[in-house]
Amino acid sequence: MNDKVFVFDTTLRDGEQAPGNQLNMVEKIEIAKALELLGVDVIEAGFPVSSPGDFESVVQISKAVSNPTICGLTRAVKKDIEVAADALKFAKHPRIHTGIGTSFYHIHHKLQSTPEKILERGIDAVKYAKSFVEDVEFYCEDAGRTDNEFLARVVEQIIAAGATVVNIPDTTGYCLPHEFGAKIKYLMDNVPNIDKAIISTHCHNDLGMATANTVSGVINGARQVEVTINGVGERAGNTALEEVVMAIKSHNLGLETNINTPHLFQTSRLVQRLMKSPVQANKAIVGKNAFAHSSGIHQDGVLKMRENYEIIDPKDVGVNESSIVLTARSGRAALRHRLEILGYALQQEELDSAYQEFLKVADLKKEVNDDDLGVLVGKEKRAQKRAIKINSLQVICGKSMIPTATVSLEIQNETRTESAMGDGPVDAAYSAIKKIFNKKIKLEEFLIQGFAGGSDDFGRVSVQIECENNYFYGFGVDTDIVTASAEAFVDAISKVIE
Ligand code: KIV
Ligand code: ZN
Repeated sequence: MNDKVFVFDTTLRDGEQAPGNQLNMVEKIEIAKALELLGVDVIEAGFPVSSPGDFESVVQISKAVSNPTICGLTRAVKKDIEVAADALKFAKHPRIHTGIGTSFYHIHHKLQSTPEKILERGIDAVKYAKSFVEDVEFYCEDAGRTDNEFLARVVEQIIAAGATVVNIPDTTGYCLPHEFGAKIKYLMDNVPNIDKAIISTHCHNDLGMATANTVSGVINGARQVEVTINGVGERAGNTALEEVVMAIKSHNLGLETNINTPHLFQTSRLVQRLMKSPVQANKAIVGKNAFAHSSGIHQDGVLKMRENYEIIDPKDVGVNESSIVLTARSGRAALRHRLEILGYALQQEELDSAYQEFLKVADLKKEVNDDDLGVLVGKEKRAQKRAIKINSLQVICGKSMIPTATVSLEIQNETRTESAMGDGPVDAAYSAIKKIFNKKIKLEEFLIQGFAGGSDDFGRVSVQIECENNYFYGFGVDTDIVTASAEAFVDAISKVIE
């Protein structure tokens, strides 16, 4: 049987404290609920003594979620511990996370203290925290640069004082994977009471090693990982939850987590949206290109057998399908595949001529998208096949006016018309379209781009919608950007009912 690795998520504490990532209470609760759904074991909800807002977040998150342990951070200071205990009073499973710096730098240059005094403060903090809650985690801040012998002494005495979890943070992201793994192994081999507590990793990404260090930590005996969604966090960030979880899942390490991996992508997008912190396109697991193939050789290989170029099934992380990005390097197989998805079944001759046209467009543009293909092989074919057509769209908008839209749709030979107001003409049109459907439709992503520039340009709109936990994409192109937006929305909704 596999050993369980506990997932401790600190998106709402270490992640949120990074510049620009601040969230309001409603947003924090939304993320906490998403983390619960994802299956994390521990949510670090804040640092209660740091501000009334953080205190209240810990209170509200404790009330909003029930399965995960709720953790509040403190320094090894009595007042911090009292305030954290108070903030955690509604948590079903409360944990206080206290600690102090143990490296030479922190002891001498930050705390102006001595190793003995630091050890004493740590022990006192654990004992005090234990008087409020049973579950007490202790962090040895800057453990990555702490001498292993001293670290082992601290860990032993902290466990003897009652700590249930001992956190070994690589606070500055300094360690190399083999060093960090060796540090954990040293503790496993040299701390006599190590079996009385769980050893945790908490790695920062200053050298881009956070995931590698964390995985090296669990291989050597750590059984809790402290991570954030998308790797958000101080400076270069924390260890990305999705990377560690999928590394554990993809390799036979005799380890497993409780994470419901098909929820990874949507949780990543939620955090991206609420923190306004874009995920880089080539980010492992959740980046826009993580499952996109653009070279002809790779595309051909993936189409023959996905595993040729993919180690993870995109569905396992909540991405509907691998995407084949069409560029001048793509071959006929990729073009045929994409056209088939779009509903165009071409004969060999038609494909050959479409491919020649495709190469011309691909030479002019970096990427040939579905709309270009639509134009290429007859955009009208898709519109004709679509279950819903826009018969008319009228919008009234302008300065000092409330934008209003009236939309008339033809759905399987029946015409339905609705009007609605909105924040702007697109919002009004979308509200009117939504009124026509009785299903709950949520707009997840909206992107509008020009083709070539200029006020007479085509507007190209891509949307992603969510309906009954399924995701659908839609595209629209028009010289009128409101029409293009409505076309994209209706295109996505058509896929719901097709
Ligand atoms: O990086 C770190 O050392 C921390 C501790 C407060 C756990 O975030
Ligand atoms: Zn940290």
